[in-house]
Amino acid sequence: MNILVTGGAGFIGSNYCRLVLNRRPGDCVVVFDALTYAGNLSTIEDLERNERFRFREGRIEDPGAVRRVLKEHRIEAIVNFAAETHNDRSLLAAGDFLRTNVIGVHVLLDCAREAGVNRFVQVSTDEVYGSIEEGEFTEESPLQPNTPYSASKAAGDLQCRAHFVAYGVPVIVTRGGNTYGAFQYPEKLISFFTTRLMDGKKVPVYGEGNQVREWIHVEDHCSGIDVVLRNGRPGEIYNIGDRNERRNMEIVDVLLDELDKPRELVKHIPDPRKGAHDKRYSMNADKIRALGWEPAVPFDEGLRATIRWYEENEQWWRAICAEPEYQAFAQAFYGPGLGDDL
Ligand code: TYD
Repeated sequence: MNILVTGGAGFIGSNYCRLVLNRRPGDCVVVFDALTYAGNLSTIEDLERNERFRFREGRIEDPGAVRRVLKEHRIEAIVNFAAETHNDRSLLAAGDFLRTNVIGVHVLLDCAREAGVNRFVQVSTDEVYGSIEEGEFTEESPLQPNTPYSASKAAGDLQCRAHFVAYGVPVIVTRGGNTYGAFQYPEKLISFFTTRLMDGKKVPVYGEGNQVREWIHVEDHCSGIDVVLRNGRPGEIYNIGDRNERRNMEIVDVLLDELDKPRELVKHIPDPRKGAHDKRYSMNADKIRALGWEPAVPFDEGLRATIRWYEENEQWWRAICAEPEYQAFAQAFYGPGLGDDL
């Protein structure tokens, strides 16, 4: 099968390409990526040598470019990872989120319909459900997104539903939990804090750090997407979660411990997300388990392996942290103090 992996130069997308190339000898992978701040050629450098891999630069909201790549590579399935994904960035400015996560998904769906692809998997997030204090979300739960980011993802999911109902595009939506692992851009809780702590810099915990997230290792998230691509039913939604609920401070404690850093490096700051800070995410993933999927990476093991990966791949993240784009956001969001002494 020829698979177009949009957003394949980003965190989860690149890990997905690795999984397909390793486990599916009959498949070819074409990455289509806009190389925005979060997509980097250094993230897919190891894949370039594989003869079943190709890279094309382009934006999913550009119909001409999408049509060309679909035709040129005789694409049979699309897995869409292309997205703006950081809540904090969406709170500063949401235009890019709407362009990519809503218009981009719409364009991609239109082109998929025209080209007659056999499968379209839209990689979404549990954040579209909003926050849940007790219990867990199922695929039937209402969409109550609380940030411009999660609202844009919810709008993308609804485009998928509409294109399935109106035109029969064989779309399947996955909603994954908070994902961690190798190659995550250093802006999310685990990747940001790990890289800062390695440099002996303070880490900004929003409020008390009592929010709860459900964590899943990137390899498990990707194996779930792959199972859905091959065995899922068009028109359906599948949650991908591993029931690893942790308070933010529990994660911070492990990072300090593993990196052997003092507690003084933790700085609680007034919550910049304010009312938009979801308290807890939790999902029921029985539906995807019924397809035969099971997560394989225990959380504590996966977290330790991830920390080691950042220790062993300093070159990768240091190059990113040195980019003006990385510095500009950090300063705009956390203030000029982010530099070294929060
Ligand atoms: P994040 O990794 O941005 O993912 P999401 O917002 O999609 O859950 O944040 C995870 C949690 O960590 C969330 O409760 C916010 C918190 N957090 C901090 O306390 N400080 C930070 O610098 C960041 C990036 C996140």
